[in-house]
Formats: sequence, C-alpha cells, structure tokens
Amino acid sequence: MVSFSGAGLSAESGVPTFRDAQTGGLWAKHDPMRLASPQGFADDPQLVSQWYAHRRRAIAEAQPNGAHTALARRSEMIHVTQNVDDLLHRAGAKQVIQLHGTIAADRCHASCGYEEPIDMTDPPNLRNCPECGSQMRPAVVWFGESLPNSAWAEAEQACRDCDVLLVIGTSAVVYPAAGLIGLAKSAGAGIIIVNTHQSDASSLADVELLGKASEVVPAILID
Ligand code: APR
Ligand code: ZN
Repeated sequence: MVSFSGAGLSAESGVPTFRDAQTGGLWAKHDPMRLASPQGFADDPQLVSQWYAHRRRAIAEAQPNGAHTALARRSEMIHVTQNVDDLLHRAGAKQVIQLHGTIAADRCHASCGYEEPIDMTDPPNLRNCPECGSQMRPAVVWFGESLPNSAWAEAEQACRDCDVLLVIGTSAVVYPAAGLIGLAKSAGAGIIIVNTHQSDASSLADVELLGKASEVVPAILID
C-alpha cells in the first residue's frame, strides 16, 4: 500500500489548504503567481520571503493529526505527498517522498546545489547563497518549476508497484502530481480515496470515503 496525499491531510492540524470548497483556501485570498512563482519572487522577493516566514511559523505551531500518526505507524508504507510541511516526518513516518519540495529548508535559487534546513520557529530573512552568492529561497516547487527528478522517479515507481493507492485530501487538479493516481490505476492498483468532498479523482476511485482524514484514515489503517 502507498499513500498519496495533499493539503487536506494537514488541514485539521491548522495548515490551510489551497482550494478548499469550504474556506476557499489560500489561493482564494492570495495570488499564487505573486507568492509561489519564480516571477513573483523576481518581482518582490521581500513579499515572498515574508509570506513563507508566516507559513513556516504557522506550520511550526501545528501538530501532526490522527491521519499523520496512523500513516506513520505503517512503517512498510511509502508516503508520496504534495505537501511541503513536515508533519508526516514529525509523526515518525520514514519513507516520505515530497513531490513539491519542503518548506523546512532553503535552497540556492540559481540551483548551484546548495540547500540547508531552516529553523521553522525563527525563519531566516532574505540572504545569499554561501556557495555562489545568488539568492536563497524556500526549497519548495513553485508554479512553472519542474518537480525534483529523484522524487518524481521514486513516486512513479511506488505508484506503479503498489496494490493499493490510498489517496488522501487532494483536489487532484495539479499536474504532473495528480497523474500518479491514474498511473497506479492503470498499473492495476485499487484506488481508495479519503476526502471531505468529491474531487477530480473521484471517477478513478474503487472506494471513496467522504469524511475527515483524521477520522477516516485511522479507522481504515487498523493495526
Ligand atoms: N480531510 C480530508 N480532505 C480534506 C480535508 C480534511 N479535513 N479538508 C480539505 N480536504 C480536501 C478538500 O476537499 C480538497 O479536495 O483536501 C483537498 C485540498 O485540495 P487543495 O487545496 O487543492 O490541495 P492539493 O490538492 O494538495 O493542491 C495541490 O497545489 O497549490 C498547489 O503546490 C500546491 O501541493 C499543492 C498543489
Ligand atoms: Zn548557490
């Protein structure tokens, strides 16, 4: 079994989702192209830096919920996630593949390869790469940027080889990540979806459980 998750997995931990039916999500309030794109960073690096500092502090205060804990307890499971938060890791999960990078580190914007973890409770301000002098930025994948090759290759392999893909809290509208659900399906996996609402992946579901991740996931991952 492999899990494939999105922002809905961390919603009950207080980490806002992006496109939520109820709350509207982050992208209803903020322009993703201004805050989560290379062009937005070029136009106003201070604004982007402050926004990620705000998100980092919020995530540092958040705690893993029942879904993170239930997933982490399954040490044999691989967890493919679109989430940049570190809640699965903090719940003890070992095999986590972050397709969209991590907010818990900064990397060189010129991709010289330099990357370092940051203190989420005291996020750094704008600064330069100690290796090449270019700007440092959050080690997340921004809109228009390609996914990290190794993470993508590992995620593809995991989804191709699994017997069951447990899809949790994603609207399944952002590609190429959302394409992994169809890939697992066509490779013969059973698709179980957990979401408070129907999503673009609903048509691929063998079983769709409409409910909150922190309640449903522990109920189906019984030891
Ligand atoms: N339990 C289960 N599902 C939930 C819960 C919950 N408590 N709360 C919300 N959801 C569901 C919503 O119904 C929605 O389908 O989680 C989904 C969240 O969708 P999005 O906000 O679009 O998040 P996600 O699918 O992860 O977005 C993908 O888009 O903005 C980019 O890079 C960002 O990784 C992100 C990507
Ligand atoms: Zn550099």
